[in-house]
Amino acid sequence: IGDSNKGSLVASDTKKRPDGRAFDELRPLKIEAGVLERADGSAYVEIGDNKVLAAVYGPRELHVRRLLKPNMAILRCRYNMAPFSVEDRKRPGPDRRSVEISKITAEALNPAVFLEKFPRSTIDIFIEVLQAEGGTRCAGITAASVALADAGIPMRDMVAACAAGKADGQVVMDLSEWEDKEGEADLPIAMMPRTGDITLLQMDGHLTSDEFEQALDLAIEGCKIISEAQKEAIKNRYGGD
Ligand code: CDP
Repeated sequence: IGDSNKGSLVASDTKKRPDGRAFDELRPLKIEAGVLERADGSAYVEIGDNKVLAAVYGPRELHVRRLLKPNMAILRCRYNMAPFSVEDRKRPGPDRRSVEISKITAEALNPAVFLEKFPRSTIDIFIEVLQAEGGTRCAGITAASVALADAGIPMRDMVAACAAGKADGQVVMDLSEWEDKEGEADLPIAMMPRTGDITLLQMDGHLTSDEFEQALDLAIEGCKIISEAQKEAIKNRYGGD
């Protein structure tokens, strides 16, 4: 990732978005760690009207021989949308979209966790979307990282996730549901802000290479802001720095 500012935007070039945000503004964000008694780690994230819970179990011994890795843990993830989370009732159970999001979430978190510390084990992550408003995969990854930290699982960094994209001709940070549906492009990313490593990058729609650079810069900025809120949530739970 270059640090070039080629084509960067300034506020005066831009127009307000339907919800009144500036092009480089996140939706209101709230993160809480340790919200569930029975899980080893948990977190709750609200970003805009998204409401997402994550629960972590493990590391615990894995008894499924065909999945077991003798020298490290495996990380499994299930992303699920509640029937009442979207406007048209979501049919319960997995579908193509949730299977894909479960897979990319595990892949986005994998590089951050010191899996080699827990041979023959599994770490299981459950993400429940209670209310969806665009960007639930990012909210889920953000919540899952905090839940992993809350479970005391050693990590290189907490992975933060944020999308940017293009809506109404403008490159913007953190698309709302309307911007996601009506917009020209969506670029969700996840990263470890401490090292700058990007662990997820997906893209839907069309961007020129300049717009892609602008969107990537905005998504990275968003991740950095979210990362601070994640650390704050862990601090609030356990006190001190
Ligand atoms: O949620 P995310 O942006 O990661 O994934 P998406 O597939 O791009 O979905 C965008 C938005 O569409 C979701 O956040 C929901 O608000 C909405 N959606 C829905 O209304 N019904 C579904 N079955 C799936 C998504």
